[in-house]
Amino acid sequence: MILTSLPTELQLADWACGMSRSVLRQMIATVSRPGIISFAGGLPDPDLFPRAEFADAIARVLATDKFALQYRPPLPELKEQIVQLMAQRGVACTAEQIFLTTGAQQGLDVLARLLLNPGGQVLLEEAVYPGVQQVVAPMQPRILPVPTDLRSGMDVDAVEAHLWRGARPAFIYAISDAHNPLGVSISVQKRQQLVALARQYGVPIVEDDPYGFLHYEQASVPPMRALDEEWVFYLGSFSKIIAPALRLGWVVAPPALLPKLTVVKEAGDLESSALIQRAVSAYLAADHLPAHLRRLRQEYGRRRDVMLAAIARYFPAGSRWTVPMGGMFIWVELPAYMDTAVLLQTAVDQEQVAYIPGYAFAVPGHTVTNCLRLNFSHSTPDMIEEGIARLGRVFA
Ligand SMILES: Cc1ncc(COP(=O)(O)O)c(C=O)c1O
Repeated sequence: MILTSLPTELQLADWACGMSRSVLRQMIATVSRPGIISFAGGLPDPDLFPRAEFADAIARVLATDKFALQYRPPLPELKEQIVQLMAQRGVACTAEQIFLTTGAQQGLDVLARLLLNPGGQVLLEEAVYPGVQQVVAPMQPRILPVPTDLRSGMDVDAVEAHLWRGARPAFIYAISDAHNPLGVSISVQKRQQLVALARQYGVPIVEDDPYGFLHYEQASVPPMRALDEEWVFYLGSFSKIIAPALRLGWVVAPPALLPKLTVVKEAGDLESSALIQRAVSAYLAADHLPAHLRRLRQEYGRRRDVMLAAIARYFPAGSRWTVPMGGMFIWVELPAYMDTAVLLQTAVDQEQVAYIPGYAFAVPGHTVTNCLRLNFSHSTPDMIEEGIARLGRVFA
C-alpha cells in the first residue's frame, strides 16, 4: 500500500508546514503532455546540445584520468577557464574568486544560507524567478518587493526608498540580463545606481546571470560584477550555454568568502561532480564553446524574432510585451481585464498550447493576473508561429 498522507504525530519544521510544490514545477508537469506546443518550460532546445563534442570530451577524460570518478577538490584548470569566460563578459577576476557549484541554483542557495538570518529581509522584484523564493523560504524572511520597468529593469528608486527608510536586506537579488520571467535587461545607468546603493548601505547584490552569454544583439553590457568586486556576488552557469544536466555553475565572490561557501556547500552535496568538471574543462580546452555559442545566439535570436513578430500579429490590441536582448523569455501583459490563469485552461484544452501565467512568479502579497511568460528557445520557428496564432485565438 502506498501511503498518501503523513502520520499526524510527525512534526515538520514550522516553515515546511505551509510549503507546497512550486506552482511553476506543478504547471510544467501538466502542460508538457505530448501533442501540446509548450512555451511553458525554461528549457534549451535538446537538438542544439553539443552531444558529439561532449561525448568526445567525457570519453577522453574517462580514458586518461582515473581521478575523474573519485571524490576530488574543485578543478583548478576549470576555474582558470571560467576566469577567461568572465573576461568575455567584461569582468576581471582571478581563480581565487571562483567557487564551483552544482548549478547557479546551488550558488544561490549557499549564498542565501550564508547571508540570511531566520526572519531577515530580502529584496526581490515583484515578479521574479521562483527558484529564489524557494531558496529563502526556510528562513521565513520578510520580502521587500520592488517593481520592474519592462524597458530598463528593476526600479532603483524603490530599492533606494526601502534602504532610506532603514530596511537592511541580507541581499538584493538581481538578474541583470534577460530576466526570468520578464525578459528585460537592467540599463547601464541602473546598474551603476544599484552598485552605488550597495556600497553606500553595505548591502550585497546577488547577481544571477545564467543568460548573460545568450545575447542576440551585437553589443552586450557587462554585468554589475564588472563595476564592483566587493559588494556584487556573481552567479554563472553552464546550464544554458552547454546543458542543464551538467548541473555545473560558479560563483564569483571575494576570496575571503570562499572557505565559508565551501562549508555550506559541503553540507549540501560534498562537492560538484569531479567527472563533469573534468569533462567541461576538456570541452572548453578543445575550444568548442565559441562556435557553439555563435550557433545558439543565431538560432535562439531567430526564434525570438519569429515570436515577437507573431505576437505583434496575433495578440489583442492593448497588449504590451518585452523585447529581450537575450535569454529565453518574453513577458506579455494582456489588457487588464484578462486573467491568464483562467485562459490557460482554454489554451491547453481547446488549442493544445501552453504558457506560464504571471501569477506563478509573483512574490507573496502581489497579484499578476493579466500577464504571461513565453519561452522561445525550446520550439522551432514553425511551432512558434503556429503556437502564437493559436494563443491569439484563445485571447481573442
Ligand atoms: C534566473 C535563474 N537563476 C538560476 C537558474 C538555475 O540555473 P542552474 O541550472 O544553473 O541551476 C535558472 C534556471 O532556469 C534561472 O532562470
